[in-house]
Amino acid sequence: MNAALEARDLIKRFGGLVALDGVQFAAAEGEVLGIIGVNGAGKTTLMNCLCGLYQPDEGEIRLAGEDVTGRTPHEIAARGVGRTFQVPRVFRRMSLIDNLLVPVLRRRATDRALIDQAETMLERMRLIDLRHNFAEELSGGQQKLLEMARMLMPDPRVVMLDEPFAGVHPTLCRFMIEQIEAMAAERKTVLLISHDLTSIYRLSHRVLALNQGRVIAEGGVEAIRGNPAVIEAYLGA
Ligand SMILES: Nc1ncnc2c1ncn2[C@@H]1O[C@H](COP(=O)(O)OP(=O)(O)O)[C@@H](O)[C@H]1O
Ligand SMILES: [Mg+2]
Repeated sequence: MNAALEARDLIKRFGGLVALDGVQFAAAEGEVLGIIGVNGAGKTTLMNCLCGLYQPDEGEIRLAGEDVTGRTPHEIAARGVGRTFQVPRVFRRMSLIDNLLVPVLRRRATDRALIDQAETMLERMRLIDLRHNFAEELSGGQQKLLEMARMLMPDPRVVMLDEPFAGVHPTLCRFMIEQIEAMAAERKTVLLISHDLTSIYRLSHRVLALNQGRVIAEGGVEAIRGNPAVIEAYLGA
């Protein structure tokens, strides 16, 4: 069976810097794949390549077996891929409801059905009482939840979360962890990027460790936890 998402020998250069140096992995439906590595390891660059924001210099990206290398972010999103950003990118001067309607504007559905769906999503994210507020009025952590909610609106098959827990209050972190578990339970493929190992180890079925653009280890949480190359990459930094 085809992997939900697959990267083959991805190379991405910025001038003389090789940010991704032959990255390779496959993620299955319903799998939470953790991607760890110290600052500058290439995690965000990998995500940017996978969602079409950057074009890799070499290599191939496949979604459910289809080669999507070179596709635009819009084309990749239309194939059922959603993502969040390390620093949330919400529409600051739009209401929460309107933020959620943006990715589904072109859907064939009545306005009422879409608004109902947006309200259900805001309810799920515990943001319903703020639905008419501007997004800029939310706390940083709430903006991350809003971005997650917006990402989920078109019901993506693959979701990629870039540092979802960074700078977020522990209570909100726990709530986010539950939401991510729910995504996997819905059989979504989850790519979870974080330099924070505790939450990654708790959530991931499998972990990919990056260092200087290369995959230095891949495996189950227990194997990664004790992997000398991973420990050295973290301690050396
Ligand atoms: N747009 C860019 N232009 C030039 N260099 C970049 C760009 N994006 C990332 N880099 C570099 O690529 C390397 C990997 O960065 P990044 O993927 O952001 O790492 P991580 O997310 O693991 O912290 C770093 O050395 C970073 O400075
Ligand atoms: Mg990053």
